[in-house]
Amino acid sequence: MNRRTTLAAVLALTTGLTLAGCSTDSGEPELKVIGAFMPQPVSDMAAGFLVVQNSGSTADRLTSVTSPLSDDVTIHETKNQQMREVESFEVPAGGELDLERGGNHIMFMKLKQMPKQGEKVSVELRFEKADPITVDLPVKETTHNPKKQ
Ligand code: CU
Repeated sequence: MNRRTTLAAVLALTTGLTLAGCSTDSGEPELKVIGAFMPQPVSDMAAGFLVVQNSGSTADRLTSVTSPLSDDVTIHETKNQQMREVESFEVPAGGELDLERGGNHIMFMKLKQMPKQGEKVSVELRFEKADPITVDLPVKETTHNPKKQ
């Protein structure tokens, strides 16, 4: 078996597993978090960015975020260069919620400590339907913006 055949076999297997997962459709959102990071804060405020993917057939909503870094964590949208707190963000069925620079974000106020590049900040994301998800945000340089690379 050459290398290409092996890869094809692996892909076929992976696809099979994914389909098996989907066929047990319970009407629940199926959430996964990718691309999380926090730019190194320069004051006692910080922002967090990530993408929540929903491979389920039911929409969900991100309703709150908590973190050991701050007792004051909220979710913000940015409109006309101004940010404002929102109650929740939709995570559409078969789609994703993007929290990205210049747009929606997680806002941390009154930081208990100043995280440095290379460290990690733990957050718990709470949803309307799905179980909470805990993720570590790696702290990146202050200007880090993966969308612009
Ligand atoms: Cu904000």
